[in-house]
Amino acid sequence: MMPKGMASEGARNGNRPGATGPEGRGGTAFPATGRAAATGGSATPAAAGGTAPAIGAQPMVICEDVHKWFGAVHVLKGVSLQVQPGEVVVIMGPSGSGKSTLIRTINALEPIQRGRIVVDGIELGPDLHRIEAVRREVGMVFQQFNLFPHLTALQNVTLGPIWVRKWPRRRAEELARELLARVGLADHAHKYPAQLSGGQQQRVAIARALAMQPRIMLFDEPTSALDPEMIKEVLDVMRELAASGMTMLVVTHEVGFAREVADRIVFMDEGMLLEEAPPDRFFREPAHERARRFLSQILHP
Ligand SMILES: Nc1ncnc2c1ncn2[C@@H]1O[C@H](COP(=O)(O)OP(=O)(O)OP(=O)(O)O)[C@@H](O)[C@H]1O
Ligand SMILES: [Mg+2]
Repeated sequence: MMPKGMASEGARNGNRPGATGPEGRGGTAFPATGRAAATGGSATPAAAGGTAPAIGAQPMVICEDVHKWFGAVHVLKGVSLQVQPGEVVVIMGPSGSGKSTLIRTINALEPIQRGRIVVDGIELGPDLHRIEAVRREVGMVFQQFNLFPHLTALQNVTLGPIWVRKWPRRRAEELARELLARVGLADHAHKYPAQLSGGQQQRVAIARALAMQPRIMLFDEPTSALDPEMIKEVLDVMRELAASGMTMLVVTHEVGFAREVADRIVFMDEGMLLEEAPPDRFFREPAHERARRFLSQILHP
């Protein structure tokens, strides 16, 4: 059984030169991507273990004039967005504005009908012909954790490395234990999802995504299904991940997290990207009336 979206290690390595190069993120406790050399040879601060966005490096994500229709419904209406290596971008916006759809297009979970998406130099055209190559770059964490209920936390995390990357079980378990410890679950490796709280399950889901050593992590409202007391433990893991230099695109309405961790806030409404600003400015004086209204709703519900 191989979860959807996972591809073979052989395909990964055959894909681009430098793909099996030396590990690029020395000093961080999260697994290195091993593909710093693949981003055009530019030794970015993020790839070297720093946290600053790399100015002038090849963007990790490029969306250019992206259009998406579901049948007759136009849900993305010309979205253009770039995410630099090491950057944390938070997407906010009212329900139905297209946030989930946008990040799903970046993970090739949804095809687009017009425009261009490039992930770490891999062009994802309207025909999704590079779908497997792109998915190898991207880790995704959903609102509903989507763990396999019949597998333990450890087995959920080792699945990708064993089946996709063809790692020996011992090596996969070593990495999985390291990642579970990293998300604060060293003592829960043997438990099944039903034996874990929502916050714990979401942290297993994060460890599982990281086990595939992605270049970018996408989060779609990772805390919105959680009870308040569990939100912090998940956000803390995400904070640490951001500090380790991971490129992150996060749909969330957690204002504290966005203020503290995001390099930029992107505000979407009705399938359009209305505003892009550093958190300071966005939360102090959003330029658009629609963004002001949205903020007053989430800040004073
Ligand atoms: N599979 C689908 N088929 C048809 N329409 C869809 C599908 N998925 C999303 N839509 C529509 O696309 C629009 C954007 O939805 P999307 O889920 O991206 O919004 P969102 O900003 O993530 O909203 P929320 O904050 O509620 O999660 C909505 O009008 C939604 O009804
Ligand atoms: Mg959504």
